[in-house]
This record gives sequence, C-alpha cells and structure tokens, in this order.
Amino acid sequence: MKAITYAGKEKLSLKELSVPQITAGEALVKVNYGGICGTDMMIYAGVHPRAKPSLVMGHEFSGEVIEMNSESPFKIGDKVAVNPIRYCNKCEPCRLGNYHICENLKYIGIDLQGGFAEYAKIPIENLHILSNKVKEDEAALIEPLAVAVHTVRRSKFKVGDTVTILGAGPIGILIGMIAKLSGAAEVIISDVSNYRLQIAESYGLTTVNSQEKDLIEKVKRITQGVGADVVFEVAGNQITADQMISAIKTQGEIMVVSVYKKPPTIDLAKMHFRELSLSTTRCFSPKDFETAIKFMEEDKIDFSKLISHRLPIESFQEGFQLVKESGNSLKVLFAL
Ligand SMILES: NC(=O)c1ccc[n+]([C@@H]2O[C@H](COP(=O)([O-])OP(=O)(O)OC[C@H]3O[C@@H](n4cnc5c(N)ncnc54)[C@H](O)[C@@H]3O)[C@@H](O)[C@H]2O)c1
Ligand SMILES: [Zn+2]
Ligand SMILES: [Zn+2]
Repeated sequence: MKAITYAGKEKLSLKELSVPQITAGEALVKVNYGGICGTDMMIYAGVHPRAKPSLVMGHEFSGEVIEMNSESPFKIGDKVAVNPIRYCNKCEPCRLGNYHICENLKYIGIDLQGGFAEYAKIPIENLHILSNKVKEDEAALIEPLAVAVHTVRRSKFKVGDTVTILGAGPIGILIGMIAKLSGAAEVIISDVSNYRLQIAESYGLTTVNSQEKDLIEKVKRITQGVGADVVFEVAGNQITADQMISAIKTQGEIMVVSVYKKPPTIDLAKMHFRELSLSTTRCFSPKDFETAIKFMEEDKIDFSKLISHRLPIESFQEGFQLVKESGNSLKVLFAL
C-alpha cells in the first residue's frame, strides 16, 4: 500500500509498505480521506517532540472496515470515524476519566502509525460507526470538530455571549460554528487571509482582517466598549497572544487553543488589573468525539465549504505546501 511517511526535518516520502496485519481487538480500515492539520506541519517541520522518522502520518481520517478478527460491533463495509487517542487507563487523569490528558497518551498518526495510507489497523474501541448521512470526505473533519466541541464546552461560554476568535483556520472556524450553534449573540473572527475570512463569513461569522483593520476597535464597537465575553486564541503567535488580552472584557475568559511553535510572552500585569482568566484546552473527550459525529449526522452545517482541496496521495508535496502557505487553502484532504 502507499503511505506518506515522515522522513526527518522537512522530509516526507511516499512509501510502498505492506498492508498492516491485524491482531485481536483490531480492525483493518480502508482509509477514504485524511486531512492535514497544524500538528502534521509541526511534525513536518521537525519540531514535534514525539514524532519519529518512518512514522505514517495522519490523525484526521475516516474509512471503512474491511477486515477484523475478533467479536466486534462492526460489519465489513461499515463506514467509520477514527478517534486517534489511545490512553493508559492507569494514570491519575485517566483514573478521573480525563483520558484526553492521559500522562501516557498516544496519538494515532503521531506516536502510532496513522492514516495517510491506503490501509490502517485500528483498535476496534477507537472506531465509531457512521451512518450514510455522513459524507466520506467530511468524515475526515470529525476529529478537528471534536477539538472545537471540547474547546467551547471547556470555556465559560454562555448563550447570548459575544465571542472573539483569533485565527480563521479550520479549528477557529469550527469553534465559531459550534459557538453559533450554541447560541452566541455574535462571533467575531480575525485572520490575515481574506480567502479564509470569506469562508468564515459564509458561515455567518463577523470577520476582520486584522492586518487591514483595527480588530480591538471593532470588538469594542460591537460590544459597546465592554470587550468580548470569551476570546479563543487559535492563531498561535505573539500578535494574537497580545490581542487576546485587549479584546476580552474585564473578568472575561481567554481560552488558548493554539499550540505555539515559539512560547509567547503573556502580559500578566495587564491581566491582573482586570481579573482575567486564562484557560487552555487539549484534544477532546470520548463524549466530545461522539458529539462531533452527531453534529455531522444532523447535517445542520455545510462542512464541505471547509474542504478546499482533495488531492491524490501522490500529490503529498503539494498538499503540505498548500497548508504551509495557508493563505489560499483551508482543509486539505488526501483521497486514498
Ligand atoms: N488544543 C488542541 O487540542 C488543538 C487541536 C488542534 C489544533 N490546535 C492548534 O490550534 C491552532 C489552529 O489550528 P488550525 O489547524 O486552524 O491552524 P491554522 O494554521 O490553519 O490556523 C491559524 C490561522 O491563524 C491565522 N493567523 C496568523 N496570524 C494571525 C493574526 N495575527 N491574526 C489573526 N489570525 C492570524 C492564519 O492565517 C491561519 O488562518 C494551531 O496552533 C494548532 O496547533 C490545538
Ligand atoms: Zn489535528
Ligand atoms: Zn493515562
């Protein structure tokens, strides 16, 4: 089978590998679509602390079950989403049910062989059956949608709140969609890419190109000078780490979603004077993943607009280049 593997800093290779042999409790999945994510870019850049060369990348993917050798709730041909989180069930976070922050967490596509391959062997407990209502390509967005569900649930967001999101990448827009579905009065989202902002606008979000307009002034104008109830920082740089403190209302909550390539400086003195809260979020719980599937099945949102490119696996270099440049793409999928 063909697979995209990490071959070292800024090196990827398309390899011909043997189809994985499944063991008890596993299923063989024919992968249909796999999405490139910011974490894949960190691996590609050689700065991910855990990924090692010869890894088959890809943690946002879906497919269908084609083989299994133990009792399972699936049938051959079932369409499935893959929850990529493996946890130890022994550490303190696991004992408290917080599997997504397991101290020994392993992620399929980061620590374990992933889904940028024609086939992947996956533990049956990590598979979720999908109804025919979920489109094969959109199913690859369930994992980032679960991140958005978890982020909004973890925040202090309440119905009627005005939310500001810094960064209109796939995660930022998905957070905006979940906040809107959950009763946000207004969702303001910033980016420096007009291409991405146009897509955000088509979902009913209020957009600001923060390179062209004063974001803070706009947030203040919309909130009658008060500031946003919740700010989600989803762009991951020093500029947005500064803006998050200026855009939030007094006693408001900043939710940091970004994984920073370089740790930002955060002005705690400014935060103290207005009793601001700073929270972080990581991955999603099993329930959040199921909620994401439900949102897809209910077909309330047109997720297809988030998919900017569907490329064959042979175009792996082009796919990664598109995501690296980011301004003229959104979610880039490999069709496998
Ligand atoms: N917490 C988690 O579990 C989790 C999960 C997935 C992704 N992430 C992180 O979330 C972040 C977003 O993920 P993504 O896949 O959407 O990434 P992305 O890179 O596609 O999106 C980031 C966006 O920020 C924009 N941006 C850059 N500078 C800006 C500025 N000054 N103002 C406004 N926008 C600006 C970029 O143009 C881009 O559209 C990344 O840091 C990623 O690592 C976290
Ligand atoms: Zn991801
Ligand atoms: Zn654990």
